Amino acid sequence: MPALLPILFLLIIESSGAAVRPVVSFKPNWTRVFTGDSLTLTCNVAATANKDVEYFWFKDNKQQLTRSKHLLINSAETQHAGNYQCQSRSSDLSDAARLDVSYDWLILQVPQTVYEGDNVSLRCYSSRGHDGERTIFYDPDHKVLQDSNNESILIKDIRASMAGECTCAKEISGQMFSDKAFLSVKDLFSNPQIIVNQFAPTEGANVTVTCDASLSLLRLATELQFAFYKNGQNVQDFGLSHNYQIYPAQLGDTGDFTCEVKSSTSDIKRMSRSTRVQIYERFSSPQIKSSAQRVTEGASMTLTCETITKDTKDLLFAFYSNEEVAQGFNSSNKYPVQAAQLEESGNYTCEVRTTEHTVMKRSRELHIQIQELFSYPQIKRTTQGANLTLKCDTILTEDGEAAELQFAFYKNGENAQEFGPSNEHIVQTDLLRVSGDFTCEVRTADNSVRKRSRGVYVHSQGSTNYTSHNAVRMALSACLSVFTLYVVFHHVKTEVIGELGDGTSLQVSWSVTATELTS
Ligand SMILES: *[C@@H]1O[C@H](CO)[C@@H](O)[C@H](O)[C@H]1NC(C)=O
Ligand SMILES: *[C@@H]1O[C@H](CO)[C@@H](O)[C@H](O)[C@H]1NC(C)=O
Ligand SMILES: *[C@@H]1O[C@H](CO)[C@@H](O)[C@H](O)[C@H]1NC(C)=O
Ligand SMILES: *[C@@H]1O[C@H](CO)[C@@H](O)[C@H](O)[C@H]1NC(C)=O
Ligand SMILES: *[C@@H]1O[C@H](CO)[C@@H](O)[C@H](O)[C@H]1NC(C)=O
Ligand SMILES: *[C@@H]1O[C@H](CO)[C@@H](O)[C@H](O)[C@H]1NC(C)=O
Ligand SMILES: *[C@@H]1O[C@H](CO)[C@@H](O)[C@H](O)[C@H]1NC(C)=O
Ligand SMILES: *[C@@H]1O[C@H](CO)[C@@H](O)[C@H](O)[C@H]1NC(C)=O
Repeated sequence: MPALLPILFLLIIESSGAAVRPVVSFKPNWTRVFTGDSLTLTCNVAATANKDVEYFWFKDNKQQLTRSKHLLINSAETQHAGNYQCQSRSSDLSDAARLDVSYDWLILQVPQTVYEGDNVSLRCYSSRGHDGERTIFYDPDHKVLQDSNNESILIKDIRASMAGECTCAKEISGQMFSDKAFLSVKDLFSNPQIIVNQFAPTEGANVTVTCDASLSLLRLATELQFAFYKNGQNVQDFGLSHNYQIYPAQLGDTGDFTCEVKSSTSDIKRMSRSTRVQIYERFSSPQIKSSAQRVTEGASMTLTCETITKDTKDLLFAFYSNEEVAQGFNSSNKYPVQAAQLEESGNYTCEVRTTEHTVMKRSRELHIQIQELFSYPQIKRTTQGANLTLKCDTILTEDGEAAELQFAFYKNGENAQEFGPSNEHIVQTDLLRVSGDFTCEVRTADNSVRKRSRGVYVHSQGSTNYTSHNAVRMALSACLSVFTLYVVFHHVKTEVIGELGDGTSLQVSWSVTATELTS
C-alpha cells in the first residue's frame, strides 16, 4: 500500500501543472480605448503549449474567425467592446479579459494586468488631444498622487495595497473632466509550497526539499530567489536554487520547514506554510552484549552488536576495545573471542554503519573483566642433597579451582622440561651444566591460558663421586672446565679428594650460587 503513495503524489503535481490557463494580453495594455484606437490581443500560453499553431478566440462566448495567436483591432468600434477569451489546441480556455471602447471626452487608462512590483503607468487620456493641460491623479483614498501637466503617471514598484478605484481629473478647454478606473494588482507569484521528494525518508536518504512557487504567465522572466528555514531558523539564504538538499539525512534533520520566495527586482516576499519533514530511523542505536556474564581466562565469549532494523542488508558492524579496533567493519554482528586473556579486559563498544557511510551509530560501553584462573608463576629454589630443585609456584583463584595445570621449564630459553603435571624440576648438578637462566611456564591442559615466570639465574653447588674409568676421564675434562670457570668466576672452588687410579674414586666438589634475575 505505501508504494502507491508516491504515484498519487506525482499525479497531483502533474495535474496542477496542466491547469495553467492561457492569458489574454492587450498591447498597448489599456483595458479602455477610444474609438479609432488600434490594439493587438495576444494569447499567452504555458511553455508546454507554446508549439501549438492553432488558436481559438472567443468574444462574449462567440467564436471569432482568426486562428492566430494574435487578434488585431485596427480601429476600435464600440462593438469591439466585450469579454475576450482564447485557447490553444492543448490548453484550457483562458479567463475573460475585458475591453471597453469609449467615445467620451476623457478616460483614465490603467494597464490590463498589473503585478506587484511592476512599474505602472496610468494615463489620463482625452479624445481631443489637449496634452499639456493640468492633470491630477488620485489614489483610491482620494489622495493626490500627481498634479502636473503630464497626462501620465508612473507608479514604481506597486503594492497590492494600492489596488482600488483611482481617479484622474483633467482640464479641457477650461473645464474639468474626470474619470475613474479600477486598478487591480495581482500576485507576481503564487504562495510557495514545500514539496519533499520522498515519502517517509529514512536516515541516509537523499532528501530534496523544493520550494514551489509559480510565476504568473506574463511575468515568467522574473527572477525568483528562495530561502529555507527549519524550525524558524534560516538554513539556506536567498539564492536562485529552489531546492534544499539534505544528504545524508540524519534523525536531527527532522523539523518544520518553511521556505520564502522573493523577486530579484523587488523585495516582495512570500512565505510558505510549514511542512514537517520527518526522518525515520534506518536502524536503532546499537547495543553491545556479551554471551557470558562472567568470563574466565581461556574461556570463549562472543560479543554481539544488536540493532533494530527492518533491513540488515547494507549494514556493517565493528567492535572496539578500549577505543582500539578489535574487529573492523564487517557484515557479521558477532565478535568471537576464542580464549579470553586477562589483557582483553576493558571497555568494549560496537559501531554500525551503512555500506555507503551514510549513517553511523555507536553503542554505549560494556565493561568486561576477564577473571583470572591462576597467578603468574614464580620459580622457587629448594636444594635436596646435591641436587637443586626448582619449583614452579602459582596460586589458583576461585575460578581456577577446577583447572588442570601443566608446568614446563626452560633453561637459557630452551626447553628443559616438557609440559607435565609436576611443578618441580630437578637441576642435574653436573659439572658441565653448572649455571643457567631458568624460567617456568604454567598452562591449562587445553593450552587456552599460558603464563610464564620471570627468569632466575642459577649456580648449583654440590659434589659427585666418580668411580669408573669413564668417570675419571669426565672428571679430568671437568677439571679443565672448572679451571676455565675458575678464571671467570672467582668464587667457584674445586677440590680433588682421593687418588687417581683404576677403581679409585675421585670426588670433585664445587660451590655455586643462584641469583634471581631482575628482569
Ligand atoms: C504596459 O505596456 C507598456 C508598453 O507596452 C509597458 O511598458 C508596461 O510595462 C506595461 N505595463 C504593465 C503593468 O503591464
Ligand atoms: C522599475 O523601474 C526600476 C528603475 O526605475 C527598475 O530597476 C525595475 O527593474 C523596474 N521594475 C520592473 C518590474 O520592471
Ligand atoms: C510624463 O510622465 C511619464 C511617466 O512618469 C514620463 O515617462 C514622461 O517623460 C513624462 N512626460 C513629460 C513631458 O514630462
Ligand atoms: C541527491 O539528489 C540530488 C537531486 O536529486 C542530486 O543532484 C545529488 O547528486 C544527489 N546526491 C547524492 C550524494 O546522491
Ligand atoms: C567478518 O569477520 C569474521 C570474524 O572475524 C570473519 O570470519 C569473516 O570472514 C569476516 N567477513 C568479512 C566479509 O570480512
Ligand atoms: C572503562 O571505563 C571506565 C568508566 O568509563 C573507566 O573508569 C575505565 O578506566 C575504563 N577502562 C579502560 C581500560 O579504559
Ligand atoms: C639427583 O638427581 C638424579 C637425577 O634426577 C637422581 O637420580 C638422584 O637420586 C638425585 N639425588 C638426590 C640426592 O636427590
Ligand atoms: C664420595 O666418596 C666419599 C669417600 O668414599 C664419601 O665420603 C662421600 O660421602 C661420597 N659423596 C657422595 C656425594 O656420594
